[in-house]
Formats: sequence, C-alpha cells, structure tokens
Amino acid sequence: MATVVESLTQLLQSAADSVGLEASIPPVNATKSPDLGDYQSNCCFRLAKAAKTSPRELAAKLAEALPIGPVLAKVEVAGPGFLNLFLSEAYLGQALQAQFADPKLHVPQTQGTVVIDYSSPNVAKRMHVGHLRSTVIGGSLHKLYDFCGWTVVADNHIGDWGTQFGKLIVSWDAWVDQAAFEEDPIGELQRIYVKFSQDATDAQQDKAREETAKLQAGDSRNLALWKRFIDASMVEFESIYTRLGVSFDVTYGESHYNEMLQPLVNTLLEQGVAEESDGAVIIPFEKSDGKGLKDQPFLIRKRDGAALYGTTDLATVRFRLDTWAPHRVLYVTDTRQQLHFKQLFAATKKLGWNQSELWHVWFGLLSLPEGNMSSRAGNVINLKDLLDAAVAKAREIVDEKSAELSDEERAMVAEAVGVSAVRYADLSQNPQANVVFDWDKMMAMDGNTAPFLMYGHARLRSIQRKEGLQHVVTEHGPVNDAERQLCTLLLRFPDVVPAALAASRPSILAEYLFTVARAVNRFYSQSRIKGSVGEERAARASLVAAASMTLSTGLGLLGIPALERM
Ligand code: ARG
Repeated sequence: MATVVESLTQLLQSAADSVGLEASIPPVNATKSPDLGDYQSNCCFRLAKAAKTSPRELAAKLAEALPIGPVLAKVEVAGPGFLNLFLSEAYLGQALQAQFADPKLHVPQTQGTVVIDYSSPNVAKRMHVGHLRSTVIGGSLHKLYDFCGWTVVADNHIGDWGTQFGKLIVSWDAWVDQAAFEEDPIGELQRIYVKFSQDATDAQQDKAREETAKLQAGDSRNLALWKRFIDASMVEFESIYTRLGVSFDVTYGESHYNEMLQPLVNTLLEQGVAEESDGAVIIPFEKSDGKGLKDQPFLIRKRDGAALYGTTDLATVRFRLDTWAPHRVLYVTDTRQQLHFKQLFAATKKLGWNQSELWHVWFGLLSLPEGNMSSRAGNVINLKDLLDAAVAKAREIVDEKSAELSDEERAMVAEAVGVSAVRYADLSQNPQANVVFDWDKMMAMDGNTAPFLMYGHARLRSIQRKEGLQHVVTEHGPVNDAERQLCTLLLRFPDVVPAALAASRPSILAEYLFTVARAVNRFYSQSRIKGSVGEERAARASLVAAASMTLSTGLGLLGIPALERM
C-alpha cells in the first residue's frame, strides 16, 4: 500500500487530470493543526496562472473533482486557495496497519553510498566533552542513512599523525612512568604531553622535531612507539563508543594518507591549481570560488616542506572517491572548521573532483553549567567523567522511582537513561545552536528529554503486557479525537525521517518523537483500554502497538535504547 502522502497526491493528480489541468502535482503536506485537515495542498497557487484562473477558483474546481469515499472524508477550500484534506477513519486504520506491516515503516528507501566522517578525535589524549557532539550527531546520521537504505561507510578520521608524536616520543623517553602507563595509558600519555608543553627545554623541542622527522621517514623504534600510543588510544575510544552505541566501518586516520601527500602537492603544482607563495604552497581563490574565500588561500605545504591538515583532507577526498565512489560525503565537526571545509570543497571543485556532494555538517559549541563539572579555564572535562556523572544522577532517580526493580536491573536502566539523557540533550537541539548542558532539565521526567520519551515507550509496553494486547496493528480506525490525532501523527513518521536526514538534523526527529509521546499521554487521558471491548479495543490496541514501535524505532535512530521497563 502506498504511503498517505503518495495516495493523496495521486488522488489530487487524478482530479487535476480529470479537469484537464496538464501539470504534475507536488506532494501534499501534513498540517500543523487538525482544523486545517490532516494534509494540505498549496498546488493551486502554482498552477492557477497557467490555468488562467485564480488559486481559489482552481481549488474549488479540484475540490469538486476529488472523490469523497474510502480515503477522503471531506475536502475544504481554505483562504486564498488551499485545499484542506480530511482523511476517513477507515482509511486511517488501514494506512496505519500497512505502515506498521513494513519493517521500514514506509520510510522511502534511497540507493546510494554515503561516507560519514565523524567523531575523529586526535589520539593520545582523552576524549573530552568537545568530542561528544560529533560522535552523537554523526552517530545518529549514521543510523538515519542506514535506515533510509543508503550504503554507509562510517570513517573515523582520527588525528594520528603530526608533530605531537615527536613531542610524545621525547616525553616518553624523559618522563614516562611505566606502571602508570600500564594502569591508565592515555592518562599517562596526556600527563607527559602536558609536561612537555610546560617544561620542555629548547634542546628537547629540537629533539622532538627530529623524532617527528624520523617517524615520518619510517624509523622502526619511533614507528613502534607511535603504534603503541595509537593502540592505547583506540582501546579507550572504543569503550566510549560502546557506551554511546556508535561504531565505525573503517578508521583510516590521517596517517593513512601520509604517503600520498607530497605526490598530491606536486600534481597540484603541475596542474596549476596550486602555486608557490613565499616558499610555501597554496591554492589561491577568487571571488568566484565561493563567498569569503578571496584572500583566504588554502595552505597545503609549509615553508619547511611539511604537509598540513588541508593536504591530508584533499588526499582523503581523492581516496574516498576512488575507494567507494560515494554520492555524498558528510564531515561532522564543530563550527570552527567552517573555513577549512569551504576551502577544501572549493579546492576539489577546482580540481574537477565533482563526483560527490561534500557536506560540512557543522555544529555549535557545547558547554557545561558552572559547578563541579564546569569547563572553565582550561579545565577540560573528560567524556567518560561526564557520562559517569549522568549515570550517577540517573541512578538516584531510578532508585527512587523504580524501587521494585532488582539492583542489577536498576544499574542497567541507570546506565541507559544517563547516557541517553546526555545524547538527547545534544541531539534534541538545533545542531547549529550552542548548547549548554542543564543537568536538571535533561534528567526531567516531563519535558523534551530522554527519560520522558523512554518512559513513554516503557509505559506502552507495560500496558501491552498487563492487558495482554498483541504487538500487532489491526485495521480498526481511531474512535475519538485523541486517537485520531495520535494516528495521523504516527502516519507522519515516513515524512519526518527523510526530512531529518536531508537537513542533517536529528533534532527534527527528536521534536517529532516528543510530539508523539505527548499525543500518547492525551490518548491515555481520553481512552480507556482496560474494560474496552470489540472494535474499540482493537483500535486502541493498534494505536498502542504503532506508537510503541514508532517510539522504539525513532529512539533507535537517535541511538537511544527503548527499554521494556524502567
Ligand atoms: N581530528 C579533527 C579534530 O579533532 C577532526 C577531523 C574531522 N575530519 C576531517 N576529515 N577533517 O578537530
């Protein structure tokens, strides 16, 4: 069965054809308020002129031609020429059943390959709060693309190459405490690295440059140490990724591109795309290359011959095009890298590497409120500590509210709720806004929070258990107002998911799930399941099943587990 939007658009198309309008009808839109109908079309504004009439008259003509029957209960012409479409109860019931018989819930499937470059921390340092957003926004986009049928290559572009390794090697030789390294590898690496930046002598600075050069030239001792630093980092990153529910297909760090850099710079020089300037090599831009790029050349080789972040990224674009031929590449980083990616994308255009869409999905900065977890003055908060603090807060709530659960179960729920609260506090905001964490707000049981949504789902599952309702959607349409509203809302899931993907905003999905959870609460207050019988009970059982599936699928796309009880 076609989706609701498809069916309605098709009906409208037939009506247009029948009145001799030679035009293709754009898809109908969901309305914001039920008195405007369930869906609305604004096609008459676009088509009136060619039809030599006014939008309102055209709308009246189309309304006349639209069949009232199994699908449409009513059609109204509104305002200067809108068509308001009201669905029949029977159709709503059938449409809901059809949607929930499909494991993809009627979300349109796209064939295509996308590379998603996210998280991408620099190694030998702990992951800190700054890495949270890329990891959770990228992680959610990863799931959205997957769900929409794309072939996803999730690439963790870790910063595993560069001058910091020479410094680390010198620090290692001078200061490492082996026992401390065994105990907490990254903690110890971070300690000696910080010590280097505070205490290194000039001789040590020189030595660090030498060690970096030796590493880059393939010195075996330095390579072995470097590998050890990376391995230690990856163990720590993985434990955070497991907690956050994200995973990668490949982790080609910056080091993977090392060999490709100098040949690339030479080719760019030969092609005349790059030029020497003051001993360095740059890609210059004109006004026509993009807004704000004139006088912002892309630096690809320093005067000392070293390649840069941008050089690696150019090589990375080429490699990805050659390896996966993706239709799209997403880079999920914070706002401070906007210029870098503008330059990178403009450079690829100059090179004629136009085979894929390159999108910079940037996000605003995240900060913590004042207090014991503040991020004031260089006091960087580790991601692990942040998650632990959230879980501890969740545990207090779970102990209080769910005393009937076993200790083990409460620990499990607290981990899921705490981590999810952090994820959701981030994902529910417009990514481009700056986010300030508010512990009380994100843990609240009422409001646009993970606990509220998770609880909304668990409650539906509990009703199914208690009432012995099947987790199956039947074709009985809604009976009262609240049921109708919930039903039409659930039918919008297939429009919401692609919209969130297209805008690279998981917040669009979050906002929708919040609306669903509130509609579920309204439904509880108006519809009794206990004691209801026959058709009415079947319709309600359907709504409970469909709502719980929508919430669990939607939460899953945000990386939040839908618990059975909490
Ligand atoms: N490692 C970089 C950082 O920590 C992010 C890398 C993003 N990806 C890329 N292809 N440049 O800021």
